[in-house]
Amino acid sequence: MKTHWYKNAVIYQIYPFSFMDSNNDGWGDIGGIISRLDYIKDLGVTAIWFSPLYKSPDCDYGYDISDYRDIDEKFGTMRDFERLLDECHKRELKVIMDMVINHTSTEHPWFKEAVSDKNSKYRDYYIIRQGRREKGKLLPPSNWASTFTGSAWERIGDSDEFYLHLFCREQADLNWENPEVRKEMADILNFWMDKGVDGFRFDVFNMFSKVYPIRDDDSKKTFQKGAKFFVDGPRMHEFLKELSGNSLSLYDSFSVGESFHPSRENALEYVKEENRELDAIFNFAHLDSDNIGGMKFFRKPFDLLQFKKGLFEPQKDNYGAGWNTLVLENHDNPRSVSRFGIDTEHFRYEAATLLAAVCFLGFGTPFIYMGEELGLTNTRFNNIDEMKDPVSHFVYDLMKHYGMPGGLAFRFIRYGARDHARVPMAWDGTVNGGFNNGHEPWQGSDRSYRQINAEKDLASDRSVYRFYQKVIRLKKENEAAIWGRTEEYAHSSKKIIAYSREYKGEMLFVAANFSKKNVSFDLPEWVSGADLLINNYEGFDKAGKAVSFQPYQVLVFDKRFD
Ligand code: GLC
Repeated sequence: MKTHWYKNAVIYQIYPFSFMDSNNDGWGDIGGIISRLDYIKDLGVTAIWFSPLYKSPDCDYGYDISDYRDIDEKFGTMRDFERLLDECHKRELKVIMDMVINHTSTEHPWFKEAVSDKNSKYRDYYIIRQGRREKGKLLPPSNWASTFTGSAWERIGDSDEFYLHLFCREQADLNWENPEVRKEMADILNFWMDKGVDGFRFDVFNMFSKVYPIRDDDSKKTFQKGAKFFVDGPRMHEFLKELSGNSLSLYDSFSVGESFHPSRENALEYVKEENRELDAIFNFAHLDSDNIGGMKFFRKPFDLLQFKKGLFEPQKDNYGAGWNTLVLENHDNPRSVSRFGIDTEHFRYEAATLLAAVCFLGFGTPFIYMGEELGLTNTRFNNIDEMKDPVSHFVYDLMKHYGMPGGLAFRFIRYGARDHARVPMAWDGTVNGGFNNGHEPWQGSDRSYRQINAEKDLASDRSVYRFYQKVIRLKKENEAAIWGRTEEYAHSSKKIIAYSREYKGEMLFVAANFSKKNVSFDLPEWVSGADLLINNYEGFDKAGKAVSFQPYQVLVFDKRFD
């Protein structure tokens, strides 16, 4: 495996809307981010990934871009961004931009021209097709469903034509078959890399290529109809290689792709070093271990075996071939401590620290979502109107449409909603958690920032932030934590999660009790005499090889074999 900065990096994600509002208008902004850079630096991370900062009408809060080469004014100006870049680099923090290039906003000038002028070259930038007439009724070109519910096709005015949108109807899919579109995208990446950014996170990248000609999905699926025609499409690998050749590989950049349920084979192909497609992709399978069939709103009892499979499988698959990533949270998921059957009232500190050590000491680059380093919990939303994410509303409406009572539908939504991650960051116990000086934030939250916030956490002797610092330091410095092969232990245990990482005579051993009862577990023979590097309790009970793990206790040992 070749060395590269991202391989011993830890990356922090900022959702700019909600991080820090410096001008007290209710929206987070670049000035706010700059004022908190030292907090991020002190955590020990290497780089920051910014969720979109570009111009956007915000139907999907920045993931609908109307100008790829400018900063949205609610966040600041291009000069502010350049200052941010500079301030990050001064602190030796790399900058990763979010790139949403599967679709543009319908407010993008390309789209506006595409639909208003039939002769415009921009028509072929999008996927526009004639609808079908059946018994005098106009139907969409195919039965594909949008990821965000409803048809994936939207009629253009009162014409017979439709455009494809795999997400909101305000997010029109780009036609990647058109070489000009691909060139535009490479130019956009180069524009930002010329400014000095260090890499990109590609939004839903494995939907760029679709199967043509467009046709109905005649499978019996009721959910996500058409996915087989737009996930891991036939030209995906070719498109990525071309994009990399025309942009990424010309710079010292890092690329990570957000994939949408890729097949195991494709997931590996995307990241194989020799393929030169992407440096890494996100693997989310373990995050579905508390829901039914990947549908976040449909809760099921937490399944540790599924969690372990999802966490370890990509580590095994990618080892020696490509790079891996490790994720617990992002702007699309509820808070991790409020999931996985965890009793946050009694074990929030223990569970938050266990999750960090267990997840981030595996093989791959950790991504930490703002506030995760404080063990922030979900928000207590009281009704659907308190939630701003359009997806919460789409799914709520759909459930009601199928006859579910509103109260019950809301309970489902509340479990899996993205809104939990999008409430303002909890800095201190003052109004709005110190996010601003009192202006109503764009997305309100309950008052739990009074109980959990950065100021309070840092003052506590059970600080989640300080524990994260320890894990991050170990992750960046320990050769086995960076390069080691992962070997799983206690494979079939429903309570214990344990693994070793081994590299050139250095062994790391991570073991944890993922339950609220004491559990006894035999440490492997070789761990005796190893150094204990991390423990989220004061000590640990050992009788011979057997350790009696307390609820959510995690231990990390290190040993050198010379
Ligand atoms: C990705 C983003 C998500 C967005 C969607 C459409 O999944 O992470 O926030 O809604 O793509 O762009």
